[in-house]
Amino acid sequence: MQIITDPAEMQAIAENLRLQRQLIGVVMTMGALHDGHLSLVRLAQKRAGTVIMTLFVNPLQFGPDEDFERYPRPFEQDAALARSAGVDYLFAPEPGLMYPEEFRCTVDPGPMAGRFEGSARPGHFRGVATVVLKLLNITKAHVAFFGEKDAQQLAIIRRIAADMNIDTRIEAAPIAREPDGLATSSRNIYLSPEEREHAAALYRAIRHAEAETGRGRRDLAAIAKEGLAIVSSAPGAKPDYLCFVDDDTFEPADEAAPGKAYRLVMAVRIGTTRLIDNWRYMCEGNRDT
Ligand code: PAF
Repeated sequence: MQIITDPAEMQAIAENLRLQRQLIGVVMTMGALHDGHLSLVRLAQKRAGTVIMTLFVNPLQFGPDEDFERYPRPFEQDAALARSAGVDYLFAPEPGLMYPEEFRCTVDPGPMAGRFEGSARPGHFRGVATVVLKLLNITKAHVAFFGEKDAQQLAIIRRIAADMNIDTRIEAAPIAREPDGLATSSRNIYLSPEEREHAAALYRAIRHAEAETGRGRRDLAAIAKEGLAIVSSAPGAKPDYLCFVDDDTFEPADEAAPGKAYRLVMAVRIGTTRLIDNWRYMCEGNRDT
């Protein structure tokens, strides 16, 4: 595995790979690698001949009161994990090379970015959209892999790729979960043992929604309310939001229509740690009936 820190060098390598007709897959990360990231690498290896992992804690996507400084940066451990997972290139750029002094332009991620995670974290998706576009241009990837856990991020990246005619296929990987269902996340390490136990309530709300929609209920607002009660009953849990949305637009949805896809999305604070999770639901049946 080669470690590259200079965007221009990475871009030259990527250009060369393209000339050699190599299919490039990219997995973008902010480091603190866990099973979720490694499952993205495994998926990338199935789809592409060369796998580039980017590792960059992007300052642009953190608000002033967020955990940018506190964000874990175990570089040696991450590099060892990436190497043993079979990553070909680890692109870990210097912040000053990504955002030099003369840097001015950012990407407007559109209306979807104002909701949910976007309203809780103003400017977050502008930072994500900007760095993702930069990393796509630097790595020249044919396919980019993103985890479904950050479903709103994924939907926004898909929207940008479509709207801007970006020549990279965006592929989603299912959420990796721990044995009790908690979605794997770099933030899980902030949970105390008790909080870690209570965090399983998020997945219980998902299971409830799965069971209720599975028996034919379409009253999404009511099912979400029940999920909210499940999450709120966990000690120390403070939900920011928990509701169903249209899977494409992220507009809130109260009632399911046949043939349409929805997503149960939630953000919950357990103690001081903010966790997100989601579940996609396809309402069976014919759209026209
Ligand atoms: O999902 C993440 O880890 C980040 O938002 C991403 C896509 C690597 C951009 O910094």
